[in-house]
Amino acid sequence: MSRWEFVGRTDELNRLLAAVTGEAGRGLFFSGSAGIGKSRLLREGVNALPTDRFAIWSIAASATTAALPFGGLVQVLPAEQPQGLSPAGILRWALNVLQQQAAGRRIVLAIDDAHLLDPPSAALVHLVARAENATVLGTLRDGEQIPLPIRALWTDDLVEHVELSPMPQEETAGLLAAILGGPVDSGSADRLGELSAGNPLLLRELVHAASGSAELKRTYGIWKWTGRLELAPNLTDLIDTRVGKLTDGVRAVVELVAFGEPLGLHLLKQAADQADVETAEERGLISVIQHDRRTDVRLAHPLYGEVMRRRCPVSRTRRLQANLAELLEQVGKRRRDDLLRVAVWRLDSGTAQDPALLVDAAVQAFTRYDVPLATRLARAALNADGGSDAAELLATILMFADRPEEAIGVLDTVTPEPGDERRLCRWLTVRGMVSYWGLSRQSTVEEIASRVEQLSDSADRSRVHAFEAIMRLHGMDTATAVRLSQRVLDRPAAGVAARELARSTIAYVQAAQGQLNRSGTAIAQVHSAAANWRTDMPYLQLALELARGTRLMLTGDLAGIDAIVADEFADLAGAGDFRLGTGYLAILQAYAARMRGQSDAAMRTALGACAVLATSRVYAGLAQAERAQAAALRGDAAQATAAMAEADRTHAPGMAVLYPWLEQARGAAIAASGDLPGAVKHLGDLVDRLRADGFAGHEVHVLHDLVRLDQASMPVGPTCSDGGRRTVAQRLAELSERVDGVLPPLLARHARAAVTDSATDLLAVADDYAALELTVYAAEATSQAVQRLRRQHSAAANDARERLAGLLGRCDSIRTPALHAGAPVLTEREWQVARLAAHGAPSRAIAERLYLSARTVENHLQRIYAKLGVTGRAELWAALRSIPGHEGGDAG
Ligand SMILES: Nc1ncnc2c1ncn2[C@@H]1O[C@H](COP(=O)(O)OP(=O)(O)OP(=O)(O)O)[C@@H](O)[C@H]1O
Ligand SMILES: [Mg+2]
Repeated sequence: MSRWEFVGRTDELNRLLAAVTGEAGRGLFFSGSAGIGKSRLLREGVNALPTDRFAIWSIAASATTAALPFGGLVQVLPAEQPQGLSPAGILRWALNVLQQQAAGRRIVLAIDDAHLLDPPSAALVHLVARAENATVLGTLRDGEQIPLPIRALWTDDLVEHVELSPMPQEETAGLLAAILGGPVDSGSADRLGELSAGNPLLLRELVHAASGSAELKRTYGIWKWTGRLELAPNLTDLIDTRVGKLTDGVRAVVELVAFGEPLGLHLLKQAADQADVETAEERGLISVIQHDRRTDVRLAHPLYGEVMRRRCPVSRTRRLQANLAELLEQVGKRRRDDLLRVAVWRLDSGTAQDPALLVDAAVQAFTRYDVPLATRLARAALNADGGSDAAELLATILMFADRPEEAIGVLDTVTPEPGDERRLCRWLTVRGMVSYWGLSRQSTVEEIASRVEQLSDSADRSRVHAFEAIMRLHGMDTATAVRLSQRVLDRPAAGVAARELARSTIAYVQAAQGQLNRSGTAIAQVHSAAANWRTDMPYLQLALELARGTRLMLTGDLAGIDAIVADEFADLAGAGDFRLGTGYLAILQAYAARMRGQSDAAMRTALGACAVLATSRVYAGLAQAERAQAAALRGDAAQATAAMAEADRTHAPGMAVLYPWLEQARGAAIAASGDLPGAVKHLGDLVDRLRADGFAGHEVHVLHDLVRLDQASMPVGPTCSDGGRRTVAQRLAELSERVDGVLPPLLARHARAAVTDSATDLLAVADDYAALELTVYAAEATSQAVQRLRRQHSAAANDARERLAGLLGRCDSIRTPALHAGAPVLTEREWQVARLAAHGAPSRAIAERLYLSARTVENHLQRIYAKLGVTGRAELWAALRSIPGHEGGDAG
C-alpha cells in the first residue's frame, strides 16, 4: 500500500506544466492544508517535464534542514563551497553553479514545503526566481510562517500563488481504488470520501486504520467498508495511533529519520536493524531516495515527523541527537555541511564539548550569514573552554547582531596575559571595534593608540594601526587617518586584512575629497582581495561598503547603486540579520529613488533604513537625514524637521565624518519649512566648512543646492587676492576641474546658465541631467528655464512647459523650492475654472457648473492666462500640469 498511481487533479497539473512551459515561464506555488496532495502534485508535474529542455532540481525542505544555513539546498549545491565569499557572493556563486549545470536549458527549481527553507536557501530561491532563464515551483502548507524572500516571490510577481482545494468526490473514489488496488463499492467510497473531506492523506490513514480488520473486506473483487464513524477523525490523531502501535525497532528507525533527515542509508543501517528499515519503508513511513551518488532516507510524509518528534520525550530526543552526531563522526564527515550538522546535534543534545569543532562550525554559520546560529555555536565553544579564540569570535558575532554590551562583557573575561603580544593585538582590535562603533565610546581611539606601543611585531602593529586609522577617519581626524593608513600600506609585513582595511579608509577620504577615480580603483582592489581577508576580518565588508556607497552617491551614479543593491539583495533583510549592511544599502537605495523623483519609494525605503538601523548608532543619524531629504522632496516640512531632530538625537559623535550628509539634509529641511534665507545661510556656512576640511566631493553638491535655490551669483568662500569673493558659479567652475566625473562640469554649467539667464542653456543642462536619471534636477533646471522665458515673454515658454510637465510626469508628487518658486499661484476659484477650461468645457458650461455668469468666467480666464503666461485655452493643459503638485487633476 506504499505507492499507488496518481489520480485526478488534471487542471492543476496542466496549470503547473503551463507555468513552466508557457511563454513567460512564470513559476507557481501551491498552498493547502496538510495532506491535501501538494507534494504529490508537484512531484507528478516535475516528472512530466522533458529533461532535454529543462534542467530540473527538486528539493524537499524539512524541519531538520531548516536549522542549517543552506540546509534546504544541500542536495543541489556542490559539497565544497568556495571560501571567503560574502553572503551575497555565496548566493551568486550558487546561482552560477546552477547556470553552468543547466548548460543552456531552462532551470526549474521545485521546492516542496518551501516554508521550511532556512534563510539563506530562501534568499537563493528568490534570486533564482529573478533569473531570466529560471522557473521556481513550490508548495507551502497553510498556517505556517513563510520566509520573507519566499513570500516576496508572489508579492514581487515572480510566481503565481494558488490554493489547492480538496479533491472532489469522484476523484476520491478513484483514489480509494488506487490505494486498495481494486474497485470499491460506491456506497463505501462515498462515505470514506466524505469522512476524508477530500484529503488524500486522511483517506489513506483511514484505509490503513481499517485494513486487516473485518470492517474492510474484499468480496467478488470489490472492496467494501462497513465501519461506522459518525465524526470525521483527525489526521494527526490517526497517525498518532498508528505510530503508537509500531514495534520498538521500527519506531527507532522512524525516529532517527525524523531527527536526521535526509539521512544516508548507510548511516541508518549502522544504527538500526536492516529488517526494521525495510518494514518502515513497506509501511510507507519512510522513503528511500537515490541521488547521483548517494542514497538518502526521508520521511514519507512530514506529518509523521511532527507526530514522532512530539511524542519523543526530551531525554530520548537528546539521546537520538547525540547518537546521530556520533554516527556521522564515526563514518567521517564527508561534506562541509556535515560539520554543521554534527555541531548542531551536539548543541541540541547537550553534548557539545569539542571547542574546536564548535568554533569551526560557528565560523561556517557566520560566513553563511546565519547570525543566530553562529551566536549559539560560538557561545557553546566559549562554554566548552574555547578560550580567547571562541570569545573573540563570539564578540564579533554579537557586535554584528547589535549586542555590543554583551560583546564587551565576553571580551573582558579573556583579557590577555601581559607579554602575549599576538593575543593582545587581536583583543585590542576586536575590543576596539565593539567599543568604538558598538558603544560609541570615542575614548577608544586614544586607548588603542597608547597600547599599540606595547606591540613589537610589525604585522601586529599594522593591524592595530589600520583600526586606529579608520576610527580617526570616522571621528573626522582625516589627516591622521590617511597618515596611519599610508604607513600600513608601506609596511611589507602588514597582513592582507590590515592592508585592505587601510585602503578602504583611504578610498573613503579620496571620495570625500573628490578624487573619485582613484577612490574607485582602491575600492575595486579591496573588493578583489576579499577572499583573502573575509575569514580573518569579516567586518571589513562594512568599511568597504561605506567607501563604495559614499563614492557612488557623490558621483551621482544611480545605475551603480542599482547594481549593488540588486547584487547584495538589500530587500532580503530576512537572510541573516546583517543589519548594518542591509540598512546602509537601504540608504543608498532611498538616495537613488530620491534623485529620480520617486518620492514615495524614497520615503518608504528611508523609513525602512531608519527601522533597521535604529538599534545601532553607527548609521542611525544618516538614515534619519535621508528620511528628512525624502520628506523635503515631498514638501513635507513637518516630517523633515522631525527627522532632523531624530538625526541629531541618534547621530553618533564617533561618526562625525558623515556630517556633510546630515547638514545638507538640514538645509533641505529648512528650505522646505519656507525659510529660504535660513537655508541659504546654512548651506553657505556648510560650503565654507567643507572647503576647510578639503571635502571637495561633497562641496560641489552643496554648491549645487545653492544653485537650486537660485543663488548661483551668491558670494562664497574667503576673499581672494583680487580683493573680491568667488560666486557659487565660479567656485563650481573651479571645482569642476578638480573633482572627477561627468557631474561637476554639468553642475557648473547649470550655475553659469542660471547666472547668465540663459533658458536655452538651462534646458540643455536639464537634458543632460535627465540622461543621468537625475530627474529632480532636470525638472528644476527646466522650471528655472520656464520662469526666465515667461519673464522674457518668449514663445518658447510653451515648449519648455511641456517638457517640465513631461519630467514631472515621471516623478511621484514632488515639491521643492526650485519647482515652487516659478509656479504661478492660482486661487481656489481660478483652479476650478482653469481645470474645466483645460478639459475643453466652453465658458458657458463652466458658468453653469459653477453658478457664475459667463462674463465672470471670462474675467477669471483672462487673469489665469496672464498668471500662467499663456495666450489661450490650447496651452492651458500643459501649463497646469507643469505646476508641481497639480498634475492637472480631474475636471471637478
Ligand atoms: N492526486 C493524487 N493521486 C494519488 N495519490 C495522491 C494524490 N494526492 C495526494 N496523494 C497521496 O496522498 C498523500 C498525501 O499527499 P501529499 O504528501 O502530497 O500531501 P501534502 O499536501 O504535501 O501534505 P503536507 O502539507 O503535510 O506536506 C501522499 O501519500 C500522496 O501520495
Ligand atoms: Mg507535502
